Amino acid sequence: MNAPEAPLLTADGLTKWYGRQLGCRDVSFEIHQGEVLAVVGESGSGKSTLLRLLSGLMPLDAGRVCYRLRDGVTRDIAALTEAERRFLFRTDWGYVHQDPAAGLRMAVSAGGNVGERLMAVGARHYGRIRGSAMDWLTRVEIDPERIDETPKSYSGGMRQRLQIARNLVTEPRLVFMDEPTGGLDVSVQARLLDLLRGLVSDLGLAAIVVTHDLAVARLLSQRMLVMKGGSVIESGLTDRVLDDPREAYTQLLVSSILPP
Ligand SMILES: Nc1ncnc2c1ncn2[C@@H]1O[C@H](COP(=O)(O)OP(=O)(O)O)[C@@H](O)[C@H]1O
Ligand SMILES: [Mg+2]
Repeated sequence: MNAPEAPLLTADGLTKWYGRQLGCRDVSFEIHQGEVLAVVGESGSGKSTLLRLLSGLMPLDAGRVCYRLRDGVTRDIAALTEAERRFLFRTDWGYVHQDPAAGLRMAVSAGGNVGERLMAVGARHYGRIRGSAMDWLTRVEIDPERIDETPKSYSGGMRQRLQIARNLVTEPRLVFMDEPTGGLDVSVQARLLDLLRGLVSDLGLAAIVVTHDLAVARLLSQRMLVMKGGSVIESGLTDRVLDDPREAYTQLLVSSILPP
C-alpha cells in the first residue's frame, strides 16, 4: 500500500502585521494535490494578505509555509533563493489577480502574453509556442483570430480569461486566485466560473481561491476557511460549512449572501 501523499502546501501559524494593523494571525491549514480551497470573509478580513504570504510575495512575521516541489522534496518557502522562488512562479504556480491588468502585460499581444510563460520554461520553437497559445485561447473561449491584438482591446471578461490562459499554459500544480470573478458583470461571472471549474477539474489543479462570494466557494471548492478580523474562525468541507455553519458569524455570512 502506498503511504498517503504528503500535502502539497502546509501553512503553519501565518501571521502578518502592517505596523500596528493586523493583516492575519495564526493561520494554519494544509492543501493536497488536486484540491480546491476557498478562503472567504468580508472585505478587510485578511484574505489577500494570506494569499500574498502563501505565495511568498510578502515576508511573514511568524509562521511557516512549506511546499512540496515536483521532485517530491518539501521546502520552506522562506528558505528558497530568489531564483528558486521566481522559477516556482513561472512553472509550478499560477497567480490570478482580481484585476487582469495586474497579471497581464497590457502592451503585449494576447499570443505574447501566453507564449511568454512558455518561453520562461524553455520553449523556443516559434510555431509550437504560437500553436499552444492558439489552443489556450480557444480553451478559454477567446477567438484565436484575435491572438495578435493586445488585451487593451479586450473586454474585462476576455482579459480575465486571457490571464487564466497565461497562468495555466505551463501546467502549474497550484494556482492562487484573488477574487477571480470580482470585477466582472454578473452574467460574465457565471460563465467564467463555469469555465474555471472545468479547467480546474480537467487539469487536476490545486487552487486557493480567495473570494467574498460564497457562491464562488460553493461552485469551485471542496473545503473552505472563513476569515474574520485576520483569523480563521471556521473551516471544513464547503458543503458542511455552507449548509450547517457552526459559528454565528458564518451563519450571518451565509444567510445574508446566499439566496435561501
Ligand atoms: N499594505 C497595507 N498596509 C496597511 N494595512 C494593510 C495593507 N494591506 C492590508 N492592510 C490591512 O490588513 C487587513 C487585511 O487586509 P486584506 O488582506 O487586504 O483583506 P481582504 O483581502 O480580506 O479584503 C485590513 O485591515 C487592511 O486594511
Ligand atoms: Mg482582498
